[in-house]
Amino acid sequence: MQKDFRELTAVERQLIENEHAHLEQFLWELHEACCEFDSLKECHGCDKEKFASCQGRLISFEYVFIDFVIRHFENEEKIMSEICYTQNAKEFFHMHVQEHEKLLLEMESLMHKLSAESEQGFTAGAIRELYYRVAELFGKHASTFDNLLLNHHESGKK
Ligand SMILES: [Fe+2]
Repeated sequence: MQKDFRELTAVERQLIENEHAHLEQFLWELHEACCEFDSLKECHGCDKEKFASCQGRLISFEYVFIDFVIRHFENEEKIMSEICYTQNAKEFFHMHVQEHEKLLLEMESLMHKLSAESEQGFTAGAIRELYYRVAELFGKHASTFDNLLLNHHESGKK
């Protein structure tokens, strides 16, 4: 598979790696916003203002994150379309693009469900679920698809 497409240039690699780091940072900031993240409790220990701020933060995270992910996928896909030598590579990258579409749909439905839970008062649980689920979805995607593009062979590395 490696000789089916050219190596990324330093600029292309840097762009993808920076965006991956940015996605992780986004997710980590949401984790950090919740006081009860590790306690596995709900929001009863937090006052009204803090609760409202976490609710708002979750909603804005959902929009900003999805927006960023869409742009990131477009960048990755543009790079992929420019580096194929063979039909084999084109097919693999086509699968990668389809996987992006699936990921986006999954994220949108997850966010829809979690917004509703947060509105019912379960914001800490919604933040936890979002954090773990997004980390899982993106981790799996990276080890199956992005690592090959970036020429990383260790699993789990983005
Ligand atoms: Fe990807």
